[in-house]
Amino acid sequence: MCGIVGYIGPRNATEVVVNGLQRLEYRGYDSAGIAIHGEPEGLQLRRSVGKLINLVEHLSEAPARGNIGIGHTRWATHGGVTEENAHPHRSSCGEIVVIQNGIVENYRELKGRLIELGHTFDSQTDTEVIAHLVGHYYSQTGQLEAAVRQALGELRGGNAVVAFSVSEPDRIVAARLGNAGSVTIGLGDGEIFVASDMPAILDYTRTMIFLEDREVAVVSRDAVRMSTLTGEYVKREPVAVQWDPVSAAKGDYKHFMQKEINEQPRALMDILRGRIDQDAGKVYLEDLKLDDAALRRVERIYAVACGTAWHAGLLAKFIIESLACVRVEVDYGSEFRYRQPVLGDDALLLAITQSGETADTLAAMEEARNQGAPSVALVNAIGSQAARVADGGTIYLHAGPEIGVASTKAFTSMIVGAYLFGLRLAQARETLTPQQIREHIQALIELPGKVEQVIQQTESQCADLAEHYYHATNALYLGRQFNYPIALEGALKLKEISYIHAEGYPAGEMKHGPVALIDENLPVVCIAPRDPIYEKMLSNVEQVKARHGQVIAIGTVGDDDLAAKADHTIFVPETLPLLTPALTVIPLQFFAYYVALLRGADVDQPRNLAKSVTVE
Ligand code: AGP
Repeated sequence: MCGIVGYIGPRNATEVVVNGLQRLEYRGYDSAGIAIHGEPEGLQLRRSVGKLINLVEHLSEAPARGNIGIGHTRWATHGGVTEENAHPHRSSCGEIVVIQNGIVENYRELKGRLIELGHTFDSQTDTEVIAHLVGHYYSQTGQLEAAVRQALGELRGGNAVVAFSVSEPDRIVAARLGNAGSVTIGLGDGEIFVASDMPAILDYTRTMIFLEDREVAVVSRDAVRMSTLTGEYVKREPVAVQWDPVSAAKGDYKHFMQKEINEQPRALMDILRGRIDQDAGKVYLEDLKLDDAALRRVERIYAVACGTAWHAGLLAKFIIESLACVRVEVDYGSEFRYRQPVLGDDALLLAITQSGETADTLAAMEEARNQGAPSVALVNAIGSQAARVADGGTIYLHAGPEIGVASTKAFTSMIVGAYLFGLRLAQARETLTPQQIREHIQALIELPGKVEQVIQQTESQCADLAEHYYHATNALYLGRQFNYPIALEGALKLKEISYIHAEGYPAGEMKHGPVALIDENLPVVCIAPRDPIYEKMLSNVEQVKARHGQVIAIGTVGDDDLAAKADHTIFVPETLPLLTPALTVIPLQFFAYYVALLRGADVDQPRNLAKSVTVE
């Protein structure tokens, strides 16, 4: 999700814009840039890849001064993470600078037309097409607002666009198409701010105007003129907002964890974007540095991770072995680094890590490197240590920043990331035909919608369930095969944020010990979707009930048999068995969240825990 900041007024525009971008860092990004206009320097453009600190350092070496400016943090969609692809982008005449949030679905067609008109492009982005299109119409109209209207009238897709021209340095033009990219105008005293998100400008003003779909705002130091894309005047009363910057980052949610659970459909769309070709039945992992030949040489994969990421590693084993017939071992980072693993020359290490900074996981990557085995990082944080040292390349989760200590959207993104890697391996090793890959791609395409369905249909049910069980002192989570890791993950979620002791167990192991725990006070979560071992899970439910345990079942929509046996049943829709865990985990995330809430725990920063364990 890109971040947008604009400013016009008496202050140092560079300071305001950079501060705003820093406030938007939580949205996640992989490069940043700023365009400032001032006299006598004129237009000054500065762009850097990686963390915002790189742009700040760039600005300290090459300051930019002026009273009008726009800035952007980019979350790469079209085109890699490079300085050329960072925003702002310029028109071919060089006079107009543009930043954008969203996707221009018809950018290839527009780019072809502009190339025929003699335009040349420096980047692979869709945003540069907007800049050139605005420049094209500017050369005809001589007026930025009119040029932006005409250009945006040709775009398809949801977009927020902000631009200014060196020939009209007294105004910024902002526009919104669709609902993908919000645009907020902040009103100050003799100064006006523009942002994709309120946190960027709450330090300066609480008086906001929100652009709606197909609206344009022309912003000068002391006035905002609003109109529709076709030029009809729009009167919009400013709104006084009460949010502080941190709560603004949470949006309408009480906690980052609740926000991040709800962001999972968007995150899963983002991890898939640009990586699947349904027609060709192919998967592309743009940052993977292993070609087909290298992937064919891999005979053993070591999936190494910690905590929730380790649970994703267990699923990666099922997924990769099933799709690509490559043997996968799963290790805790803290164990792998000390067990003197014998990797062999056909090994590959798959480091799975949200932060990319977990010391134990990084140590495992170091061990692999010492033994000459390549590492691939399945990682969320752009430019993190794991991403930097992964000599086999990275598979970015593109989940956006995960602030809540309890990992949620990163986990389901790790599942899909492992699935994409499994399909990529299957493609290289021809263990699946393109048609079979098409079927898997279709299930992946449908997954975000099914995740949204589970979120919409189970949150309130889980909140009610939490009322029943938040006094519990222990809990048992049972699952089999693909849902055994979900039993572990559900238990971890509950214990780490509500401080209730919870254990995840393979359900088949119940008779080898845990069954002794069962009595009328013990809530037992049984994950029993209709999958190849459903009947076995059903008998586990009966065994728990026979000992008066309280069964909370996670089942497949319409499964009346399960509902008749369990005390409470939460339903999820069907999907491919290997993708079911991305659905069954969601009610367990909500259940843990609402139990913790009722227990008055600090949901986003549970006691004793850190978001990233950068020490042993
Ligand atoms: C999970 O909810 C915890 N926050 C923790 O187990 C986490 O998954 C683990 O520390 C690994 O972190 P990483 O994914 O950033 O490497």
